[in-house]
Amino acid sequence: MSKNPVIPYILIFALGIGLIFFMSLYGIDQKKEIADGDGEATEEGTKEEGASSEFDAEAVAQQKCIGCHGGDLKGSVGPNLHGEDKDAKELHEIIKNGKGGMPAGLIPDENIDDMVDYILTLK
Ligand code: HEC
Repeated sequence: MSKNPVIPYILIFALGIGLIFFMSLYGIDQKKEIADGDGEATEEGTKEEGASSEFDAEAVAQQKCIGCHGGDLKGSVGPNLHGEDKDAKELHEIIKNGKGGMPAGLIPDENIDDMVDYILTLK
């Protein structure tokens, strides 16, 4: 039994402060994770329901590629991308480095393979 009736309150107060301190540290940790996690957490919910990846190749193609490859990607300034006879490696190279009138660097490196996969689905 404590003689001083205030002691239990002080204990609860200290616990509360400790909890707040702990939670703020935890929050900072989570922020770091979000920052480190190549933007995954922050981009959640802003993307349409992509199959396996957050990169929506079709949507990006509609923004960045149709200007030259035509609204259905069947060709205008740039060639028809349907029924592509080049293999994935060549397509990757062209999207990454550009070729002739095809600008380089339209797609971030880590998403190029997704775009190639998408192009190879166009028949
Ligand atoms: C400024 C116009 C322009 C834009 C924008 C553009 N392209 Fe192209 N693209 C071209 C041209 C021109 C070629 C033909 C290059 C050549 O063979 O000399 C080409 C070629 C390609 C090829 C090779 C096709 C083949 O069979 O040789 C691929 C794949 C391709 N583009 C994908 C894309 C993708 C994906 C995007 C959107 C991210 C895109 N392009 C945006 C102009 C463009």
